[in-house]
Amino acid sequence: MTDILDGKALALQIKEEIANEVRQLTAEGHRAPHLAAVIVGTDGASMTYVANKEKSSHEVGFTSSVYRMSETTTEKQLLETIDFLNNDPDIDGFIVQLPLPKHINEQRVINAISPDKDVDGFTPVNIGRMVLGEECFVPATPMGICTLLQRYGIETAGKHCVVIGRSNIVGTPVANLLSRKGFDCTVTMCHSKTQNLPEITRQADILVVAIGKAEFITADMVKEGAVLVDVGIHRVEDATKKNGYRVIGDVKHSEVDAKCSWVTPVPGGVGPLTIVSLLQNTLKAYKKHRK
Ligand code: GUN
Repeated sequence: MTDILDGKALALQIKEEIANEVRQLTAEGHRAPHLAAVIVGTDGASMTYVANKEKSSHEVGFTSSVYRMSETTTEKQLLETIDFLNNDPDIDGFIVQLPLPKHINEQRVINAISPDKDVDGFTPVNIGRMVLGEECFVPATPMGICTLLQRYGIETAGKHCVVIGRSNIVGTPVANLLSRKGFDCTVTMCHSKTQNLPEITRQADILVVAIGKAEFITADMVKEGAVLVDVGIHRVEDATKKNGYRVIGDVKHSEVDAKCSWVTPVPGGVGPLTIVSLLQNTLKAYKKHRK
C-alpha cells in the first residue's frame, strides 16, 4: 500500500496556523510581518515562483512587496537594492530569486544579504549556523522536506537516507539536516560522478531526489517499501491541458509509486511546503526583530 505525503493539504494546514498567529498579532495592534522578494529579469519559472510567494504571503496576512528589476540591472544596482532592504526596518525578511542573469555574481549578491533577514537561509552565516546545529534560517526546500517527514510521523532514526543531488539549496542542506540529532538518518549523498547509482539508491529506506532530470528515477532503482521524496519540477508540453503543459518530477511515478510505502506527488508534494517554510522563516524573523 502506498500512502501520499500530501504537501498541498499540509501546507494549507500550516498556513492556517500562521494566519491565526498573524490575526492575533494584528488584533493586539502590531504590524503584520513583511516579506519582500527581488526578481531580476523575466524568467518564466522565477516569475511563477515569486507570484506564488506573493499570493501565499497575502493568504496568511503578511505584507508583501516585490522589487522587479530589468534583465540589464547591474550588480552594483542590485547590491544597492539589497542594502536598502537590509536597512528598511519595516521589512522583516527578503529573498533574491535565483537564478540571476549571467553578468551578476550570484555569491557576491547572496553574501550581501543581512543574515537576520535571509529568510531563504542562503548566506554563509546561516549555512554555517545550520551545519553547527545553531539557531538559524534553514533553506526553504530542505525545511519543507523535514516538515513533511515530521508531520507525517515518518520514522527516520537509523534509517538509510540516500540524497541524489548536491546543490547548495537542496541536496547539501537536506543531507546535513537529516543526519543531525532529531532525524538521526545515516545519509549517503550521490551526485553526477557517483558510480553504480542504482545499487546505492536500492539501499535507501528514504530516497530524496533533487537531481533536476525529468523522470530519472525508475522502478528498478527503488527498494520495496521505501519513502520517496521527489523534489523535481519540470514542465512538459501537454495539449490536453488548458495551459498547454503539465508538471512532472525527477521520478517516474507511474512505475515507482507502487513499490513505495510513502511518496510525495508532483505537483502537490514538496513544492507547497517550500513556500510555507519561507513564510515560517519570515514569521520567525519578524519575532526576532520585535524583541
Ligand atoms: N530559485 C529556485 N528555488 C529558489 C529558492 O528557494 N529561493 C530563491 N531565492 N530562488 C530560488
